[in-house]
Amino acid sequence: MRHLAIVGIGAGDPSYVTVQAIEVLNRTDVLFFFDKGDDKEDLLALRHQICERHIAHDRYRIVEVQDAARDLSGPQYGEAVSEWQDERVSIWEHLLATELADGERGAVLTWGDPAVYDGTLRIVDTLQRRGLVTFSYEVVPGISAMQVLAARHRITLTQTGGTVALTTGRQLSTVWSSGVTDVIVMLDTRCAFDAIEDKETLIFWGAYLGTPDECLIAGTIATCAEHIKRVRAEARARKGWMFDTYLLRRHT
Ligand SMILES: C[S@@+](CC[C@H](N)C(=O)[O-])C[C@H]1O[C@@H](n2cnc3c(N)ncnc32)[C@H](O)[C@@H]1O
Repeated sequence: MRHLAIVGIGAGDPSYVTVQAIEVLNRTDVLFFFDKGDDKEDLLALRHQICERHIAHDRYRIVEVQDAARDLSGPQYGEAVSEWQDERVSIWEHLLATELADGERGAVLTWGDPAVYDGTLRIVDTLQRRGLVTFSYEVVPGISAMQVLAARHRITLTQTGGTVALTTGRQLSTVWSSGVTDVIVMLDTRCAFDAIEDKETLIFWGAYLGTPDECLIAGTIATCAEHIKRVRAEARARKGWMFDTYLLRRHT
């Protein structure tokens, strides 16, 4: 039987890789790297760095795969994601059948934690249901960007006995209008915090967390929004891609 490990590698710093992840990687024959395009070649480079640093032998093979292209800019976001996921399932099915022999152990390195805004487990679940290629699998947790954000700002994500929501830039206005006091926002391409009406709301923002390009800004929306937008635009233009996460905390 083939075996696949879905390994969270942390969100940025190679030293975020856990001891459990290192042990799993050292038992792996084939590592699958999904290339998301030139704009994110830093992320691919980091995966190579992690293997070189943490795998103590050279008996493993790396299979680099061009990830399915996605266009999620249109209004039919759900449909576009679903089509993209279908294409990814086919790619994975083919890969597992052709690149992982019976009895071999494969690993997919997922950014941050595989349980947070990552499609890998959904793909694996679909592959298991289709049953065209049989394999067992395990999941290794990783340090998510939101945990790095909290550590770098030296804050807690939850207030005493409180509730924190996790959402995307697209959903922020709906989630915020429900009255929740604390919201973590990921996958925001449009600075959705700008639309928050109460400008005394606190924002703890971080980009490229855990990497040499890390940027941190914190304060009220009134004092920080323009600064964040400027820093974000400059960094995005310079690097060609942007990863940022923030916590909004309602002014009480
Ligand atoms: C596809 S999601 C993956 C999240 C990942 N599974 C995790 O646990 O952090 C990508 C989003 O995660 C956030 N993110 C990931 N790494 C980050 C980093 N180093 N700094 C800031 N935000 C990051 C950004 O919001 C980015 O748009």
